[in-house]
Amino acid sequence: MQIADRLTKIPPYLFMELRKKIAKAKADGIDVISLAIGDPVEPTPESIIAELCRTARDPENHRYPTDEEKGMFAFRKEVARWYQDRYGVTLDPETEVLGLIGSKEGCHHFILGHINPGDVVLMTDPGYPAYRASILIGGGIPYNVPIRPENDYLPVFEEIPAEIVKQARGMFLNYPNNPTGACATRPFFEKLVAFAKANDIAICYDNPYSEVVFDGQERLSFLSTPGAKEVAVELNSLSKPYNMTGWRIGMACGNPDLIAAISKVKENTDSGIFNAVQYAGIQALRHETGNIDHMATLYARRRAKVLKTLKKIGIDFNPPKGTFYLWVPTPGKMGSLEFTNLLFEKAAVVVASGTAYGQYGEGFIRISLTVPDDRLDLALERIEKAFGK
Ligand SMILES: Cc1ncc(COP(=O)(O)O)c(C=O)c1O
Repeated sequence: MQIADRLTKIPPYLFMELRKKIAKAKADGIDVISLAIGDPVEPTPESIIAELCRTARDPENHRYPTDEEKGMFAFRKEVARWYQDRYGVTLDPETEVLGLIGSKEGCHHFILGHINPGDVVLMTDPGYPAYRASILIGGGIPYNVPIRPENDYLPVFEEIPAEIVKQARGMFLNYPNNPTGACATRPFFEKLVAFAKANDIAICYDNPYSEVVFDGQERLSFLSTPGAKEVAVELNSLSKPYNMTGWRIGMACGNPDLIAAISKVKENTDSGIFNAVQYAGIQALRHETGNIDHMATLYARRRAKVLKTLKKIGIDFNPPKGTFYLWVPTPGKMGSLEFTNLLFEKAAVVVASGTAYGQYGEGFIRISLTVPDDRLDLALERIEKAFGK
């Protein structure tokens, strides 16, 4: 069967080799603990589930979603209220908000709605691998902008070659950052607006971890920066703050032209989010802020435990203040894959190799805190035993 050429350009999945090893170890009866995947294990709050069940019983909601691809007006209005409340950003729910099947969908449709074949699209290295896949599927040319610890993992625009900047029509950014955990700053946002305006580059600011921050870190929306709405669409999601990854609900906010373009792609691709899921989303945004605080406390506790163990085995570093990931330097300049393999072989613990996120991920591994406490404790015990001095 023919497979489209565009798919052959997408790099092979880097976890594949590890997956095979895990499957084999499990078949051999080894108790493997995965700290590799970022997916909250705690259930969605009960009131959200109740609202889904209640509204799913109404036959009105069994039909194509209201307002189809745009999302229900009531949902968009609630998103606008949430953005005002959480980030001080004013949005017009009619033209500046769109319901999404998760922020991942928005990344993909940003490319289809804004990028022409042959346009360069900037993304960070390390970065979220789905950006590259979306750029390639859309016929764009990905260009990796390195982000390094010495710059707090923020891109340095002056380092991007002028030729590339000239050809660039879009840029993906994501802070609090997967995989590094780094957070952006207001001065950086101002630079980003200036860079985008000066070079006619549309920003896709992917912000699904906006609510997962620690140690007094301010929750930020790029859209709170003067001029940001002229150059950017911001994606957000109910996945992480409300433990709703499987529900597939998120939002795109900001520049009305970009919103209209993404909406047109959706209009011709899917017919929007099940109304009952949107009602449940309204419930989450309106009434479940407590869950965000509860999860932040839980992740902070796990984070402290992991850092303590890492220190005991000689890995001492100052972690950035966002996301439920820890971006951990490997000991003694060991390669990322080597350390990942050692953790697996000596402790039956799976982590993500930094190189899965780009060449600048070399020298790091990513540990996720979305694992039950007892499993995390056991994983840390094993790591300490295997690598302790
Ligand atoms: C940077 C980034 N963007 C988007 C997503 C996808 O989120 P959603 O569930 O909203 O599609 C993830 C999920 O891990 C992510 O890390």
